[in-house]
Amino acid sequence: MTILALDGIHKSYGRGPSKIQVLQDVSLDIQHGEICAIVGPSGSGKSTLLTLMGLLDRPDAGRLLFEGEDIGCATADRLAALRGRRVGFVFQSFHLLSRLTALDNVALPFLYRGLSPRSCHGRAVAALERVGLGDRIHHRPEEMSGGQRQRVAVARAIVGGPALLLADEPTGNLDSESARQIIDLFNGLNADTGLTVVIVTHDPTIAGCCYRRLTMSDGRLVGCLPSGPEAAARL
Ligand SMILES: Nc1ncnc2c1ncn2[C@@H]1O[C@H](COP(=O)(O)OP(=O)(O)O)[C@@H](O)[C@H]1O
Ligand SMILES: [Mg+2]
Repeated sequence: MTILALDGIHKSYGRGPSKIQVLQDVSLDIQHGEICAIVGPSGSGKSTLLTLMGLLDRPDAGRLLFEGEDIGCATADRLAALRGRRVGFVFQSFHLLSRLTALDNVALPFLYRGLSPRSCHGRAVAALERVGLGDRIHHRPEEMSGGQRQRVAVARAIVGGPALLLADEPTGNLDSESARQIIDLFNGLNADTGLTVVIVTHDPTIAGCCYRRLTMSDGRLVGCLPSGPEAAARL
């Protein structure tokens, strides 16, 4: 089943002479339950592509279907609701709130959903245990290593039970051992729950851990390996 279908996507920033065409005619499908890497030079449009996949922005042209729903016709409220329930994000610089404990950072998304504090708390603890931080729930980010902070961010991304996890250079600020743990975590989540994972990365080792690699260059998708029946058979 296809979770994301992009067909002829274009995206630009700016207007007039300062207009930059960032994505040009990008078409690709992501299947439910796959784990894939997006690679390519800096400035090639990887983060912009991830932003569109995560429904944080809309394409200028082309069609984007999220779980079969044409997001070109969706209201801003509908996009926000889909994003909140179906998508989790992990960023290079963690984006944790420094004054809050790990537990509160992870529980925060639920407060916006109106769940009871007890239920938010329970789910946040479970998510932190899943990422191996059950003994750090009351620590604040500054009391944790980079790898631990990123695991808190992963817990926050998965606490709501998303279908799609989008990670933009998630290991860019980590040493190789911590990077390994994050990738193992993504692979484990993918294997255990069928979570679909898309990882933007510069690191060839990490890209090598993903079964499928999409390569961007100058706003275009220039490679998609492997593809076709062989890739589908692996899902
Ligand atoms: N919000 C923005 N406003 C203007 N230009 C942007 C914006 N975001 C990205 N760009 C430009 O789009 C191009 C692609 O950026 P990006 O998607 O971040 O590439 P990558 O993640 O591959 O490094 C770059 O030239 C960048 O400067
Ligand atoms: Mg980027």
